[in-house]
Amino acid sequence: MLLGHQSALIDRPTLYTFHGIISSTQGFTIGSSPWDTSCKNKRTAAGSALGRSKLKDYFDMFDLESYCIIRDLARDSHNGEKEVEVRKYIQRYALNTTLTLCYGIRMDSVYDSMLREILEVGSAISLLRSASENFQDYIPLLRYFPNNSKNRRSKELRDRRDAYLNSLLNQVREMIKKGTDKPCISAAILKDEETKLSGVEVSSICLSLVSGGFETIPGTLTSCLGSLSTAEGQVFQERAYADIKRVYPDVRDAWRNSFQGEEVPYLNAVVKEAARYYTVSAMSLPRKTVSEVVWDGARIPAKTMVLINAQAANHDVDHFGPDAATFNPERWLSSSPSSSSSSSPSKSSPSSSIPHFSFGAARALAPGK
Ligand code: HEM
Repeated sequence: MLLGHQSALIDRPTLYTFHGIISSTQGFTIGSSPWDTSCKNKRTAAGSALGRSKLKDYFDMFDLESYCIIRDLARDSHNGEKEVEVRKYIQRYALNTTLTLCYGIRMDSVYDSMLREILEVGSAISLLRSASENFQDYIPLLRYFPNNSKNRRSKELRDRRDAYLNSLLNQVREMIKKGTDKPCISAAILKDEETKLSGVEVSSICLSLVSGGFETIPGTLTSCLGSLSTAEGQVFQERAYADIKRVYPDVRDAWRNSFQGEEVPYLNAVVKEAARYYTVSAMSLPRKTVSEVVWDGARIPAKTMVLINAQAANHDVDHFGPDAATFNPERWLSSSPSSSSSSSPSKSSPSSSIPHFSFGAARALAPGK
């Protein structure tokens, strides 16, 4: 469906609760914008900010945020003696990377009040934007019921989101005035360095990047750490470490360089399996058909909402084999190291023949991949 009908599925439906109420002030996120010239410009801008060629510009940021996670986990857990909730640290990592990119701002404390507010509001909005959550999106009469709690909650969340987005933009304005601003998307626009985009489009891009990263990355990484912590997962950890040492005989080089090179096949396989196994956006983003689509004998009329079940595709036994429901990074390696002893390094390289659908596909591929 995604590969064969890319152009016919390029549009996005507009829903009463998410588009009509929550997004009425800051514009739609890119992934929920109907297909038009403005959406195309926003996608191009986000695609170029997140493109592979730009990655090297973000190495320092990734280095800093990775360092801060390890530093704070070691400190707060008293070097592993005390239990800590890892997800909070990963949330800060995810949010700080997008806030740095969009506003040149980061929060050092895991429990910073604005950081927690952004995460709380963002998660609550995610629930309200679900295509199956709001019956009033499909049955208009429900919208006019007195004491409509969905509308009340949507407006409250919209106001709270406006407050922090405006505060972030005002901080950038202040920094520009003082000459202390960092290179970032909003400063470039506020200084009129990129004239093609309007103010609303810039807000929409920043909103898209912030909301694109803060749940996907923590969800995927937390699930991955959980899988790696099981008895079977610890064997994968040992093999991954052996492969790291094979590629970087001095492991200090791994810390310094591995995030740039992505040269350790076993680690690449762990990353792919993490994305496949826990499909963080289970039904991907809803789309709308631009023209009639004939799929598997069925005629889907134009202007129909289409949801792609990426979770099911990622766990399809016909595609991934009988162990599709099991976390096994070695499915991505062209030769499995499991036949050899757990301490021997993997010499295999990641196979790209069986893709997963966690990032979508074709023209609907996520730019943050
Ligand atoms: C594990 C990490 C991630 C996963 C699994 C993921 C997944 C997805 C998926 C499935 C889509 C919808 C594609 C579609 O159906 O059209 C999407 C869109 C998007 N993602 Fe991500 N994403 C991740 C990380 C990120 C990050 C870190 C960012 C930003 C820094 C980001 C920014 C975006 C944006 C801007 C869109 C909308 C793009 C468009 O519609 O053209 N994502 N992502």
